[in-house]
Amino acid sequence: MRPRVVVTKDIGKEPLARLAKHAEVVLLPPEWTAVELIHHLQTSEALLCNVTDTIDKALLRACPGLRMISNYGVGINHIDIACAREQQIIVTNTPGVLTEATADLTWALLLDVSRRVSEGDRLVREGKWAGWEPLFMLGREVSGKCLGIIGMGRIGQAVAQRAKGFRMPVIYHSRRRLPEEREKELGAQYVDLEQCLSEADYVSIHCPYTPETHHLIGAAELERMKPTAFLVNTARGPIVDETALIKALKAGRIAGAALDVYEDEPYVPMELRQLEQVVLAPHLGSATEETRLAMADMAVNHLIAYFQGETPPNVVC
Ligand code: DGY
Repeated sequence: MRPRVVVTKDIGKEPLARLAKHAEVVLLPPEWTAVELIHHLQTSEALLCNVTDTIDKALLRACPGLRMISNYGVGINHIDIACAREQQIIVTNTPGVLTEATADLTWALLLDVSRRVSEGDRLVREGKWAGWEPLFMLGREVSGKCLGIIGMGRIGQAVAQRAKGFRMPVIYHSRRRLPEEREKELGAQYVDLEQCLSEADYVSIHCPYTPETHHLIGAAELERMKPTAFLVNTARGPIVDETALIKALKAGRIAGAALDVYEDEPYVPMELRQLEQVVLAPHLGSATEETRLAMADMAVNHLIAYFQGETPPNVVC
């Protein structure tokens, strides 16, 4: 009998056609419910899911026949990994292929919030632009400023690399310190979290979301930042305490924020949406044609390897 794989979202014709050569593909309709997902998974041995799907203990316990989860994306905080491990389910992710796209978007947001590009765009569209003025819409110079990176994995390093073009000194805090050689290459100096927050003109978050990084940036951390500094988050929303961030922005304790991720996506608090000094993107980190195709290929390849009896690469548990 052909194995069945449930796919929670359309990831493109070609990758799905390739997958269909190895298994019966059940592509869920756009607005499926958890009950429907469980219903299909109870007769399937594999799942291809993504960051918007909650693969929790209740779901995994209800699907004892599930053997393999291929995650389309690098972050796996939406999957109960401990439970998957207990049930001996193989879980894979797609690291590497989204590094450059996410680093590019980080810079797009950093530049945008500093130079007030989106704010200016709104003004022009609303017909409120009255012409060039010497003191009109002044932003802050990016070149030469200090970039603070929290989480120096692949994406953090790709962000640091780009800072060279802006002649920016880079300081970073991370679970693991980079080898000295790599620090030299990147021109990055390891510091503790407090120093990273208090010295940087831009604090950019690139660590994974885990119980340890939940609200890593809260009121006390925002208080440590310079009043002229910006916070950039393209990692995961709940790493930042959104309520504390809104308070800090309203009180002018930091200069602004550029966010691609939120605590409860796709909900974005109205208070945040009303602030001019905030740039808000709809989780676009990996959203380029090239990267999404590479993610789809990788996620499908992992499943094909599994169906062929091989151990797929990028196993996280
Ligand atoms: C990931 O891969 O975790 C990204 O957030 C998806 O864009």
